[in-house]
Amino acid sequence: MKVAVVGATGMVGEVMLKVLAERNFPITELIPVASERSVGKTITYKGNDYTVVGLETAVSMKPDIALFSAGGDTSLEWAPKFAEAGTTVVDNSSAWRMDPSKKLVVPEINANVLTKEDKIIANPNCSTIQLVMALNPLHKKYNMKRVVVSTYQSVSGTGVKAVRQLENEIAGIEGEMAYPYPIGRNALPHCDVFLENGYTKEEMKLAREPQKIMDDRTFSVSATAVRIPTAGGHSESVNVEFENDFDLAEVRELLSATPGIVVQDDLANNSYPMPIYAHDKDDVFVGRIRRDESQANTLNMWIVADNLRKGAATNTIQIAEYLVENNLV
Ligand SMILES: NC(=O)c1ccc[n+]([C@@H]2O[C@H](COP(=O)([O-])OP(=O)(O)OC[C@H]3O[C@@H](n4cnc5c(N)ncnc54)[C@H](OP(=O)(O)O)[C@@H]3O)[C@@H](O)[C@H]2O)c1
Repeated sequence: MKVAVVGATGMVGEVMLKVLAERNFPITELIPVASERSVGKTITYKGNDYTVVGLETAVSMKPDIALFSAGGDTSLEWAPKFAEAGTTVVDNSSAWRMDPSKKLVVPEINANVLTKEDKIIANPNCSTIQLVMALNPLHKKYNMKRVVVSTYQSVSGTGVKAVRQLENEIAGIEGEMAYPYPIGRNALPHCDVFLENGYTKEEMKLAREPQKIMDDRTFSVSATAVRIPTAGGHSESVNVEFENDFDLAEVRELLSATPGIVVQDDLANNSYPMPIYAHDKDDVFVGRIRRDESQANTLNMWIVADNLRKGAATNTIQIAEYLVENNLV
């Protein structure tokens, strides 16, 4: 496969290159792409140097697959140009996720919806992916009615500039701000931009994307998204009300049996998921599984995953792997 990585110099792009190498994705030609600022720079893949090219050049090289993580505007403008050239685009931005003509895919849940005709495929929001990974097996068994999720999101979710802001604050250096306030020793109830309904765009992604991925509009999701000064991954406190009652031991078994999920829930040994340990792992970690004692048929749990891995790069590459394995590209 001739593979373009659009946004190769960014936070997600770098992890994308790492994951492609780790999983030995069948690459015959790698095309790293970034903004005009980075054209001519060198990136390393599997010990070899590659020169970063611009979008125009990349389209003309007609890659088989383009993995996009260069922001929504770049995707809106350029994904159709790649698609027209015959390239299959897997896009990490929010540009195409809710477009009814585009598939929104978490391979463990709905890779089967993909066809050869899908030329632009959307990768869900990072917080959504780890949420639906844990919700899907439970919904199938107990039928969800309502989910209330509060997130504790890593600065790496905002990109290079935000990680630098936190590092500068820790080092006592004044620098460029990615957020309107300091993030060190702080918690910002503000991920992405505010919308007219008083929610942020990130919160509405969490509220809308799960139904599309799980192809089921019978449940609703309410979200509060908070940025905290961690770097290893996103955490989520999740409250789920089901139609049917459940057994806690069975919930743990269902989650443990789900590929891509690791249950860490041994309170006697202080075992629960934490971003510092989820960092650089592909799994979604679930713990603090307990009954909500204030309401019938309701479960509380804590979900953690590396937002740059399963929340972005790994999920994108799993989609690409599925396309290759099933001759869809
Ligand atoms: N971080 C996450 O956890 C996460 C998770 C899921 C999805 N995403 C999405 O992935 C995308 C990238 O996020 P990130 O965190 O990696 O951001 P980032 O660290 O700021 O990197 C952005 C990348 O996009 C490139 N880029 C920016 N403007 C461009 C343009 N006009 N033309 C071509 N390339 C351009 C940058 O190239 P230069 O280096 O040349 O500027 C860089 O490679 C965003 O859409 C984000 O929403 C991020």
